[in-house]
Amino acid sequence: GAAMLTDTFSRVHTYLRISLTERCNLRCTYCMPDEGVALTPGGQLLTTPEIMRLARLFVEAGVTKVRLTGGEPTLRRDILDLVGQLGALRVPADAGSSSGSSSSSGGSSGERQAEADEAALSSGSSSGSSSGSSNSRGLSSLAITSNGIVLARQLPALKEAGLTAVNISLDTLRPERFQQLARRPGHGRVMEAIATAARLGFDPVKVNVVVMRGVNDDEVADFAALTRHQPVNVRFIEYMPFDGNVWSDSKMVPYRELLTRLRAAFPDTPLERLDDPRGEVAKNFRLRGHVGSVSFITSMTQHFCHDCNRLRLLADGNLKVCLFGSSEVSLRDALRGGASDDDLRLIIGAAVRRKRAAHAGMFELAALPNRPMITIGG
Ligand code: GTP
Ligand code: 5AD
Ligand code: SF4
Repeated sequence: GAAMLTDTFSRVHTYLRISLTERCNLRCTYCMPDEGVALTPGGQLLTTPEIMRLARLFVEAGVTKVRLTGGEPTLRRDILDLVGQLGALRVPADAGSSSGSSSSSGGSSGERQAEADEAALSSGSSSGSSSGSSNSRGLSSLAITSNGIVLARQLPALKEAGLTAVNISLDTLRPERFQQLARRPGHGRVMEAIATAARLGFDPVKVNVVVMRGVNDDEVADFAALTRHQPVNVRFIEYMPFDGNVWSDSKMVPYRELLTRLRAAFPDTPLERLDDPRGEVAKNFRLRGHVGSVSFITSMTQHFCHDCNRLRLLADGNLKVCLFGSSEVSLRDALRGGASDDDLRLIIGAAVRRKRAAHAGMFELAALPNRPMITIGG
């Protein structure tokens, strides 16, 4: 149960980020080195049935939110199938009152219903707990973080299959600059993905902006201006160090400085603090009168480790308990070695209990062995 997800600092990890691939169709400088990264051989990546077995185990233990990451998650060939299966783990709208199918969401096609039934069946048979009690547990959120390059055309089907939230990475509003930052073209497609997500009713669409001094920090006001008429949540992220991304503290623009600059750019529009929902990493604000909002993710200057609720399942099957550091355990090897669900729960619980109180300070972090961001997924 919840014990598997609770660490020695009483943090309950109800949010699982699943990386679906190490590949990407962009080459962002802050995410991967110039020369690229060595990809894990295909046979050592988790298969979809393996991901689903682990996801069910986590959801049974109390995970309520899954976010799909990468690399670029939309490059996984069977992403739609996977989202459908994960979508079937969602809490039914009428939880408790229905005794039959565990998925009433978006189940228009017979095929999807069959998947949902299969999912309900297999989770019932492997958990040993009665379906009555497992009914109250389930995913409430199934999210994706994407670079938006091929997302727009996939989004209607992904939504239909159960996707509930979309975060899109976009670091510049200028097409030429996009090509320098991402080492590939595609600015227009990302803008289109943001518009499509908003049109489909994802609200808010979160737009992730990694701010780098001398690179894109002159666009903070332009990004904030997007929120005037569009229901987007623009999130300015402090640049973080990962293997191969040549981070330096001089490139990182602290949250305090961003706040000051934003206020100066909108001298007549108060910047109002909004609530920060529990378990979210962003500090949220709204420029008065704007329909969208702006936020800051202050990983470097004000970390939020004390109420961290995240675990990461990487594409190669490693469970990573913190974004930083190298504390990982291979669930793939356990699975393929014939581990039972109970064995897996023990391995996961032990890893969670090894999680530290907080990550190291800014300068230690840059020196700590970790991975390239592209193989973690944020
Ligand atoms: P929500 O689920 O909508 O709150 O999104 P998210 O912020 O968790 O996920 P997203 O993939 O959009 O990541 C946005 C930024 O937050 C990225 O720079 C991530 O690396 C960073 N981030 C996500 N989770 C953590 C975390 O646990 N610790 C730290 N330090 N940063 C994180
Ligand atoms: N620092 C901060 N955020 C980063 N991201 C990728 N690399 C970094 C970094 N070095 C962001 C991406 C994406 C999210 C998953 O993580 O822009 O939106
Ligand atoms: Fe959690 Fe580690 Fe991120 Fe801190 S750095 S919030 S402990 S994942």
